[in-house]
Amino acid sequence: MVGIRALKKIWFDGKLVDWDAAQVHVLTHGLHYAYAVFEGIRTHDTPRGPAIFRLSEHIDRFLSSAKIYRMKLPYSGPDLAKACVDLVRANEIPTAYIRPIAFSGYGEMGLDPTKSPVQVAVGEWEWPAYLGAEGVERGVRATVSSWVRMDSRSLPPQSKSAANYANSALAKMEAVVGGYDEAILLNSAGMVAEGPGENVFRVKNGIVSTPPASSGILRGITRDTVIQFVAHEGIRFQRTDFTREELFTADELFYTGTAAGITPIREVDGRLIGNGSYPIVKRLQQRYEDAIHGRNPAYNAWLTYVA
Ligand SMILES: Cc1ncc(COP(=O)(O)O)c(C=O)c1O
Repeated sequence: MVGIRALKKIWFDGKLVDWDAAQVHVLTHGLHYAYAVFEGIRTHDTPRGPAIFRLSEHIDRFLSSAKIYRMKLPYSGPDLAKACVDLVRANEIPTAYIRPIAFSGYGEMGLDPTKSPVQVAVGEWEWPAYLGAEGVERGVRATVSSWVRMDSRSLPPQSKSAANYANSALAKMEAVVGGYDEAILLNSAGMVAEGPGENVFRVKNGIVSTPPASSGILRGITRDTVIQFVAHEGIRFQRTDFTREELFTADELFYTGTAAGITPIREVDGRLIGNGSYPIVKRLQQRYEDAIHGRNPAYNAWLTYVA
C-alpha cells in the first residue's frame, strides 16, 4: 500500500508532537459530522532555503472558513502562521504540502458542534504535483461530472470545509472510475464551477477567463496568483461564467490549485482542447515556478522564508 511517509513532527493543539503521537479518538465529533475546516499550503525550495507560498493569504482564508461555520479558533492568525513556520523548520523538508485543520474534537456527540472543544492541528507531508508531473507537462483528461457542485444555499463553497469534499470525492471517484484523470463540476445553474480540488480557467482568442466567486467556487489562492500573472503578462482577462460547450471550444483550459499547481486540461469528454498545445499555460507555469522558487524578485512578498 502506498502511504504518507512519516515526517518528524505534527503541530497539534499548540505544540509540536512526534508524528505518531498526533492521534484523535474515534468519537471525535468532527469525524462524524464533518465540522472541520482546513487549508492546503505549500513550501518550496528556494536559493534562501524553504519558503512558504502566500502563507498569510492561506491563514486569512482559514480564519474565514472557520468564521462562516461560527467555529471559534483558540489561536490567532499570527499563532497559526508561526505554527506552520515552526513545523516546516522542525521537519527539515524543503518541498512539502502543509495542512492546517480545525475540527470539533472529543467532547459530545450529536449535531450541535458548539458542545465540543475546537482542536487545531497542522500536518505536513511530501506531495508531488496532485495531478502528476506528466499532467503538468502534457495535460490531463477531464470529464464533466454528473454531480452538481453544492452551492451556498446548502454548503458554503467559500469555506474550505471538510463537508464540501464529500461532493468533491463523489466527482473525483466518478471521473477515475470512468477512466479520466479529473472532474469538472457544473453549478446548479449549469455553468462551470470548478474541479473537485482546483479552479478552472479557459483561454479563447487570447483572452483568459475564469468563473466569478458567485458561480459557487472556492476563491483559490492560485487562482488569484494566476489572475495577477495574466495582468503582468499583458494578457486580457475576464471573470465570467461559461458553459459546458465553451469548455469544448476553448483554445486552452487549465486547473489551478495549491496541490495541482497549474495543470493544463488536454481533453474534456473525448474532445481535444484546441490543438493540444498550451502556449499561454506554459507562460503562466513558468512565472509560477519562478515565483514559488524565489527566482522572481517581483513576487518575493509572497514568500515566507523559514530558515
Ligand atoms: C474545491 C477547490 N477549489 C479550488 C481550489 C484551489 O484553491 P487554492 O489555489 O487556494 O489551493 C481548491 C484547493 O484548495 C479546492 O479544494
